[in-house]
Order: sequence, then structure tokens, then C-alpha cells
Amino acid sequence: MKASDTKATLSFSNGGQPVELPIYKGTMGPDVIDIRKLYAQTGMFTYDPGFMSTASCESAITYIDGDKGELLYRGYPIEQLATNCDYLETCYLLLNGDLPNAEQKAKFSDTVTHHTMVNEQMQFFLRGFRRDAHPMAIMTGLVGALSAFYHDSTDINNPAHREISAVRLIAKMPTLVAMAYKYNMGQPYMYPRNDLSYAGNFLHMMFATPCEEYKVSPVLERALDRIFILHADHEQNASTSTVRLCGSSGTNPFAAIAAGVACLWGPAHGGANEAALNMLYDIQKEGGVEKIGEFIKKVKDKNSSVKLMGFGHRVYKNYDPRAKLMQETCNEVLTEMGLEKDPLFALAKQLEKIALEDEYFVSRKLYPNVDFYSGIVQRAIGIPVNLFTGIFALARTVGWIAQLNEMIGDPDYKIGRPRQLFEGSPKRDVKPIASR
Ligand code: CMC
Repeated sequence: MKASDTKATLSFSNGGQPVELPIYKGTMGPDVIDIRKLYAQTGMFTYDPGFMSTASCESAITYIDGDKGELLYRGYPIEQLATNCDYLETCYLLLNGDLPNAEQKAKFSDTVTHHTMVNEQMQFFLRGFRRDAHPMAIMTGLVGALSAFYHDSTDINNPAHREISAVRLIAKMPTLVAMAYKYNMGQPYMYPRNDLSYAGNFLHMMFATPCEEYKVSPVLERALDRIFILHADHEQNASTSTVRLCGSSGTNPFAAIAAGVACLWGPAHGGANEAALNMLYDIQKEGGVEKIGEFIKKVKDKNSSVKLMGFGHRVYKNYDPRAKLMQETCNEVLTEMGLEKDPLFALAKQLEKIALEDEYFVSRKLYPNVDFYSGIVQRAIGIPVNLFTGIFALARTVGWIAQLNEMIGDPDYKIGRPRQLFEGSPKRDVKPIASR
């Protein structure tokens, strides 16, 4: 951390001793005020539920400039990565700090490809779930269960264990997501195919059956690969912070990633793509484009609790750059599938246009986020709505691991242990039950 010449002074209106606090500068973004010694110096905590003004860690992985609508992985703009690189190169970048050369890329792809099978016993574990279980419920269980199958990679403090668990998680997530889907469908699981790309293999495991040959469409393969790249990491969001906090206790990587999967499930986070598509279906059912005005009215009504799903972001106060790329992919996929006139896509574009002109959204700087269009793309590929968040989890796994490994690799890391402002009862005595 680079110290700034400026220092912050915290003074108290009751005449308490002022405290001087160091300020640190990052390479980009807001400076931070170091409050680590504040409690020792003043006996006070800071209060910041929702981490509105708190940097929870140092990181060199992903940077978002929310005002500019810019997203960088290890310094590279998401637009360049989405256009010039594939997902496994992006994984290598997030894990290792720079893009691979041709040899490194080939070696990394080969290693990941040769870890895609899961222990055969996993399918019997999967059978314990109801067939109609939500895929995220299944994924939370399956990812956690990996720690019961791969005992040789569970020591988070061992760099070799961290490396192999990273490869295993990246390699096996597509297999697990596809298994969860096939289980829902009552179809046989398809084993991974090592001659296919990461995204191509996933399409194969999802949509092939043993009955006939399945040909991977290069357009869908590229679209899926782009979805993976766009979701690969996103700084200290809720699920990443969950993974870091969970991992800070020293638990094994599979357990920490399972915690991330569970967090991602929520509709304010990874579940938003599912919620956004369901919202579009609902508007469509009620009359389509004609009903947008009425729907927007409900969204703006403080008493209605209806949100425009796929809009708004804690960090982006401008267009989410991933949404632009996703809209482009949406066009490509719908053309490939002969769905150029897809009414849901037309509805989404009209809804976006109206919202972007509306004073409510303009004044709050609410723009489409990645989830606004990703549901339409996934639906066109044939992915069922309830699996959208599973696809997000698959793609985000590399980000979670990179962030977890960054934290564990830092010799100064400590178990995460937030403090609180206690508002409950002061100390009191338990009365005998008869007199309560
Ligand atoms: N529709 C309507 N109003 C909204 C929306 C929305 N989607 N998002 C924010 N607002 C309003 C909110 O009511 C508040 O208004 P007011 O100031 O009058 O009370 C104002 O905008 C600020 O919102 P906030 O809830 O304080 O903002 P936040 O940073 O806490 O929440 C968010 C961010 C993503 C949870 C929220 O925008 C939201 O719920 N969006 C819909 C869900 C969604 O699309 N989530 C995906 C996020 S991107 C994928 C990911 O990274 O996980």
C-alpha cells in the first residue's frame, strides 16, 4: 500500500482527543482512510452496513469505474477481452495476473480439460435431490460435496492444494451444472468431451443425448464463452465477499466456493437474470409493449416493491459495459436461431429505451446491467430460466478462486470479523419460568 501525503484527522465535538488516520492510494479509484487502529485509539467502531464506504481488502484483480462504466480485469478492458480472448485465457489472466502466451494457454487449457470429469460417486449423491429441485439448491450441495471427494486439495494454506482445487473447480463446474440440468430433465448425463472447447463441451454436456450426434454451433459456443467472460469476476460484490469471509476461517476452497454459490442465488445478485426474464414474460403476458407504461408506473411507486430487474447497480452509475456486449451477443444469437423478431427482445429494447428517458431512472443513474439481456441470450441458446444463475456461478467460480487465493496468499490476512452497534437489552437476569 502506498501512503498518501495527506492524512485524515477525526475530531470529536465533545472535546475528545483528535485522531490522525493514514490515507493510502491505490493505482486507480478512491483513496482509503486506514481505520484499523481506530478502536484501539478511541474505543469506537465505524458503522457501515452494506459496505457503502468501506474497502474490505486490498486487491489487484478487477477494477470497476462505476461513473465511466468501465470494467477492467487485471487492467484489461472487458470489451477487449470479450472480443480478443476466450474464457480460459480470461481464467488464466484472473488467476495469474497476466494473459497467457500461446504455450501457457495450451498447457492451461489442457490441464483444465483433463479435470472435467467428476468422481462417478457424485451422481449417486445427486440422486438424493428431488428431480424438481432448483438447480442452485443442487449446485450449493454439489460444490460443497466436492470437498468430500477431493481430499488431496482441501488445505487452503497449501499453495499446491490451492492450485489444483482452482483447476478442479473451473473444470468441473460445467460438468456439475450440466448434471443438475440432465437430472431435472430425467435424461442421461453426458460425459465431457476433451476434443471440444470449454464452452463447446458445456453445450455438448447440456444438449447432447446418447441417441444422436450433437453438433456444436460456433455462434452459440462463442456467445456462451462471452457470457462466461463477462461474468468471470466483478470486484468485491456480495458473493465474492462471502467467499473471502468464508475462506478467511481457513475452511477448504470447495466449501468457500459453495458459500459463494449460495450467496449468488439471491435475486438482488445472480438471481437477477432469472428475475429479469420472468419480468419480461409477465409484461408480455399482460399485453407486451402496450403495458410498459403501466409497469414503469408500478416500479416508480414506492409502495409497490416492484423493481425493474436487470436495472441499477451498486457500483455502476452509468451503462454497465457488460450490458452493451451482451446486447451485441443477443443480436448475434437471435439471428443464428432465426429469432430476429423475438418479441421478448423487442420488449426488452423498448423497456430499456423508455426507462432511459424517464426522470426516475435518469436522476437515480439507473442503467441496464449485464442481466438485462443475458436471460434473453440464454433462453435462445435453450438454457432453462432456472439454470441462468447456475451459468453465472459456473462463470464466476474463477473470480471467486482468484480472490480467495489472493487473500490467502497475503501473509497479513486475518479471519474476517465485523463488529456491531449493539441495540439489544442490557444485561439482565433470567427469572424462574413461573414469574416470566
Ligand atoms: N428498479 C427500480 N428502482 C430501483 C432499481 C430498480 N432496478 N434499482 C435501484 N432503484 C432505486 C431504489 O429504489 C432507490 O430509490 P430511492 O433513492 O428513491 O430510495 C435508488 O434507486 C437507489 O437504489 P439502492 O437500492 O439504494 O441501490 P443499491 O446500490 O443498494 O442496489 C441493486 C443495487 C443492484 C441491488 C438494485 O439496483 C436492484 O435491486 N436492481 C435490480 C436487481 C438487479 O438487476 N440486480 C443485478 C445486479 S448486476 C449483477 C450482479 O453483479 O450481481
